Amino acid sequence: MSDDRILIFDTTLRDGEQSPGASMNLGEKLQVAHALKELGVDIIEAGFPIASPGDFEAVQAIARQVTGPVICGLARCNNADIDRAAEALKDNPRPRIHVFLATSAIHREFKLKMAKDEIIRRAVEGVRRAKSHVSDVEFSPEDAARTELDFLADVVSAVVEAGATTVNIPDTVGYAVPEQYAACIAHLRRHVRGIDKVVLSVHCHNDLGLAVANSLAAVREGARQIECTINGIGERAGNGALEEIVMALRTRRDFFGLETGIQTKRLYSTSRLISHVTGIAVQRNKAIVGQNAFAHEAGIHQDGMLKERSTYEIMRPEDVGVPQTELVLGKHSGRHALRQRVIDLGYHLDDGQLEKVYEAFKVLADRKKTIYDADIEALCEQQVHSTEPGQTAWTLEAVSCNAGSATIPSAVVCLWDKEGTIHRDSAIGDGPIDAVFKAIERITGIQVVLKDYRLRSVTVGEDAQGEAHIEAEHQGKSMSGRAISTDVIEASAEAFLQVINRLAARQEGDTRIRPTENPA
Ligand code: KIV
Ligand code: ZN
Repeated sequence: MSDDRILIFDTTLRDGEQSPGASMNLGEKLQVAHALKELGVDIIEAGFPIASPGDFEAVQAIARQVTGPVICGLARCNNADIDRAAEALKDNPRPRIHVFLATSAIHREFKLKMAKDEIIRRAVEGVRRAKSHVSDVEFSPEDAARTELDFLADVVSAVVEAGATTVNIPDTVGYAVPEQYAACIAHLRRHVRGIDKVVLSVHCHNDLGLAVANSLAAVREGARQIECTINGIGERAGNGALEEIVMALRTRRDFFGLETGIQTKRLYSTSRLISHVTGIAVQRNKAIVGQNAFAHEAGIHQDGMLKERSTYEIMRPEDVGVPQTELVLGKHSGRHALRQRVIDLGYHLDDGQLEKVYEAFKVLADRKKTIYDADIEALCEQQVHSTEPGQTAWTLEAVSCNAGSATIPSAVVCLWDKEGTIHRDSAIGDGPIDAVFKAIERITGIQVVLKDYRLRSVTVGEDAQGEAHIEAEHQGKSMSGRAISTDVIEASAEAFLQVINRLAARQEGDTRIRPTENPA
């Protein structure tokens, strides 16, 4: 590999999935993994296999179904974690085990209660254990950015000698600033024997809004792998945003002289996909993929743009895949056109799912005059969220409600449980939507505190589909749900049920380990 190539290590499915409310089910994770492969990422961190049976199953399924990029599983520095990661990855031709152990004084003293020599011993043992399973081993000294430089160099020297092939330097709490972080990378390059034999990687959190800046500063000093997530999702304020890092390197190639293997035209659709499956909206003014990223409002800018685009535009929207026109298909469009549009929108559906999307498309085309991208996305999502009875804890069969100025709002809801039994109940509420939510809570026995409920039209016109977006809390954990339908009551019920299903899945795997919460 040439020296000017930056490896993109995507951790949307691992660190990104640790975002509050971002948990994904198996079908959603597979969908994202396929999209990341199409995007051209070099490494997909698929999850933390020991965390729960669901996490193991997801890493295993991705390892089996997604070939091309390296597939990576996270493990703490202990045999059980490492062996479990190896087991999950064993069917992939390019498996990587990513072992981590905290090194900073704060973590050593308060979390691990380990002395420096013990840390080095455990790190080396962990790397050797991982090496006994796979040749591609990454080591991360957690909280590296707050670790004493000399000790960090000792740890890195030891793991390089033990056989690590990538060494990642995480700024776990987003504390670093660009000059200091770059100096840390430079220090390691100067003081670690054999450092040129391994790939030096960076992993920055965004607590001070510096994750992208820190990552870019580090590549100037020789880091050649960047760990990042789509839309920058991740623990707390998130990780470095993949789309921003990639477009900064591309747009300022004159300055960095570096390149990635990312198909930048797929950035926009991948961003939309992640936003849809996690329910985490992208802020309007977000760089690269936000709704306003290429919108020019001021008259003076518009005038300049008309005369010469480069006056106010440093990137072209088409380079990141922003659709030039929203209008796509009509009643007479065939399967082939639909399939192509589905792929362009970033979805990876099997033949059975595509057929269902096609059937739903025909029904929708009969009801709606024009079909927009957002309509197609809505149809694809219905497939991705796998709401077949038995696949999630609860599936909506029917909902109806009664409301008006002279009546008490009420709703009747019918749900399937996982075992295939139908449950019916009714409730009254402050309004029809409230009554629907209460009826669902009565059936499922799960109560949530509603934090936000939004309804918007996904396209234009009176026949447009409505999107319901819900954020709710249960025992301090936040969850989001999102659903689209031409019937807003149905969309609201589906979005609420998504929250309930995410909670039910979480309750099943309640013992789930969070990598940063638990000692090695
Ligand atoms: O932020 C961090 O330190 C991590 C490690 C597990 C690499 O995510
Ligand atoms: Zn992290």
